[in-house]
Amino acid sequence: MNSSKPVNHPKSMNSKNQISFIGCGNMAAAIIHGLIAQGMSPSHIQASNRSPEKLTQIKASTNILTTTDNYQAAEFADILLLAVKPQILPQVCEQLKSIDLSNKLIISIAAGITTDKILELLEQTVAVIRAMPNTPATISEGATGLFANQQTSQSQKRTAESIFTAIGQVEWVEQESLIDVVTAIAGSAPAYVFLFIQAMVEQAVKDGLDEKCARNLATQAVLGASKLAQMKSSETLQDLRQAVTSPAGTTAAAIASFEQNEFSNIIKKAVSAATNRGKELGEQA
Ligand SMILES: NC(=O)c1ccc[n+]([C@@H]2O[C@H](COP(=O)([O-])OP(=O)(O)OC[C@H]3O[C@@H](n4cnc5c(N)ncnc54)[C@H](OP(=O)(O)O)[C@@H]3O)[C@@H](O)[C@H]2O)c1
Repeated sequence: MNSSKPVNHPKSMNSKNQISFIGCGNMAAAIIHGLIAQGMSPSHIQASNRSPEKLTQIKASTNILTTTDNYQAAEFADILLLAVKPQILPQVCEQLKSIDLSNKLIISIAAGITTDKILELLEQTVAVIRAMPNTPATISEGATGLFANQQTSQSQKRTAESIFTAIGQVEWVEQESLIDVVTAIAGSAPAYVFLFIQAMVEQAVKDGLDEKCARNLATQAVLGASKLAQMKSSETLQDLRQAVTSPAGTTAAAIASFEQNEFSNIIKKAVSAATNRGKELGEQA
C-alpha cells in the first residue's frame, strides 16, 4: 500500500505518517483536500465510510485509498481521525477496540464527546486529541480549537496541529471544557455571521439595492473587516471600530441603534447559550 516514491508531507508530519479517516463526510473531505494541497501523498491517506458513494467521490478527486472497513482503515494508519457523527462514535469505537492503539494518535472531531469517554469506549489508555473545526475549513479558512489528553506526546501534538493548519488556523486549549467555548465562537460562529449578513442584505434590498449587489457588498465588508482585525492585531477591536465611526456620521447612527438594542448583550447571550448547550450535550454523551 505504501508508495515507493519520496513523499512531501505537511510540516511536522513525518514522511512515515499515515492517516486514516473513519467517516468520510464533509469535514473529513475538507481535511483530506487540505492535506493533499499541502503535499501529503494520497497513498498515505485512507478513508473509510459506511456507504461507498462518498468514497467514490473522494477517490476520484484525490486518489487516496478507500475502504468500507473501519477496522482495516484503523490498522493501516498511525493517525486515526474519527469523523463520524457523535451518536455513531460508540459503534465505531466498538469496532476498533480490539486493535492495539498504543502507538497511534486518535483525533476526534465528534462534537461533545470527551477524551475520557473515547478512552472508555476504546477500553485503552491512549493518545487522544479533540479537535473542533468549522465549515470554512472546506475552503481552507477554518478555525480549529484543539485539546490533547495527558497521553499525547509533543510530537503528536505537532502532527495534529499541522493537519488542522492545512485547513486554516489553529488554537490550543489547556482545559477540555474550553472546547465548548471554542465551539461557541468558532464551530457555530459561521451561522451567526450568516444571520448578520442576511439581516444587512434584507434591509439593503428593502431600501432599494439589488440582492446580488447587496450580498456581494455585505459579504466582502465582513471578509475585509475580519482580515483587517487579524492584520491589525495590536489594535483593540474598539479602536478599529472607532476608526470608522466619525462623530454624528452614518456608522455612529448604526452603532447608537445597536447599543440601544443591546446588540453586544444579544451576542454574549447567544455565545453563552452555545457554550452551555455544548456542556449539556457532553454530559448526555
Ligand atoms: N460540520 C461542522 O461544522 C462540524 C464542525 C465541527 C465538528 N464537526 C463534527 O464532525 C463530525 C462529522 O461531521 P460532518 O459534518 O462531516 O458529517 P457528515 O458529512 O454526515 O459525515 C459523517 C460521515 O460518517 C459516515 N458514517 C456513518 N456511520 C459510519 C460508520 N459506522 N462507519 C464509517 N463511516 C460512517 C457517514 O456515511 P454515510 O453517508 O454512509 O452515512 C458520513 O459520510 C461530527 O461528529 C461533527 O460533530 C462538524
